[in-house]
Amino acid sequence: MTILKDKVAIITGAGRGIGKETALFMARQGAKILVNDLGANPDGSGETKIADQVVEEIKETGGEALANYDSVDSFSGGQNIFKSALEKFGSVDILINNAGILRDKTLFKMEEADWDAIMAVHLKGHFNCTKPFAVYIRETNRLDCRIINMSSVSGLIGNFGQTNYGAAKAGIAGFSRSLSMEMAKYKCTVNTISPGAATRLTIDLMKAAGREIDLDNWTQGPEQIAPIIAWICSDEAKDITNQIFHISQGTVGIMQQPAVIKSFKSKDIWNLDQLNSLMPKLIEAKIAHDDEVSKKGEPV
Ligand SMILES: NC(=O)c1ccc[n+]([C@@H]2O[C@H](COP(=O)([O-])OP(=O)(O)OC[C@H]3O[C@@H](n4cnc5c(N)ncnc54)[C@H](O)[C@@H]3O)[C@@H](O)[C@H]2O)c1
Repeated sequence: MTILKDKVAIITGAGRGIGKETALFMARQGAKILVNDLGANPDGSGETKIADQVVEEIKETGGEALANYDSVDSFSGGQNIFKSALEKFGSVDILINNAGILRDKTLFKMEEADWDAIMAVHLKGHFNCTKPFAVYIRETNRLDCRIINMSSVSGLIGNFGQTNYGAAKAGIAGFSRSLSMEMAKYKCTVNTISPGAATRLTIDLMKAAGREIDLDNWTQGPEQIAPIIAWICSDEAKDITNQIFHISQGTVGIMQQPAVIKSFKSKDIWNLDQLNSLMPKLIEAKIAHDDEVSKKGEPV
């Protein structure tokens, strides 16, 4: 059984890491793949044609793929990526916004260029690549497409030394929520992934956190993310949209979305005595809610 037979997928940053494993897995499931990758260093500098190797691997196993080396950080790059896929395969069904870089520093040491580069690749990169696909879906009334966006615990929970990356990744979750509403008319689902996998972006961070790295163990490597992305792109997942899936250390989970968990109402404008009394009750409710959610999130 191949769950993505004849689907056309654009995967950005698919030259290595999570993107590469996803491209190989989806090709085995019958998808034709536009393998985009600038071939950048972890900080976004440099260029190499590593996308070619992934295309070769896909072709060796009988699949169809095309390499593209445009950068997702420019509007014209996003247009070219989409155009390459459309010209080669004649249609597009799936977009996986995966390309990524890191410029980790505390805000005290962060330069404007570190902020701008992260915003350009991650947050604007999602806009640059999604816009031509969304317009195509609307203009051709193409139904049942899929958009997968790549967030992170850094943006959804927070991480020391990543104000730039965390802001971009939180922005991506916000982008996805609104986009899922705009694409619903076309039955195009929009879902977000919060991955955790040992790749060149994370191995040093994992070691610093005291984790042992064993790349032969599937629960650590990027290959654990691929089947779940492929499943979300399949017909089986046609009604699943506007969700955040957390995939890490061999687990797959669903994340809560921001919601008001307790509130009070006043007849008149709030006075400071009321706030002295109510604000601690809100914090107490939040702590109790977090405890309950963290118990529910334990793997089954
Ligand atoms: N690995 C994790 O644990 C983890 C955790 C949270 C989020 N993520 C996100 O998952 C995605 C994939 O990360 P990964 O760990 O596989 O990293 P990776 O470095 O292994 O792969 C990222 C790829 O993106 C490419 N790329 C970088 N800038 C580009 C650009 N401007 N245009 C096109 N391609 C570009 C790189 O050349 C690289 O091949 C990223 O968005 C990352 O932020 C990863």
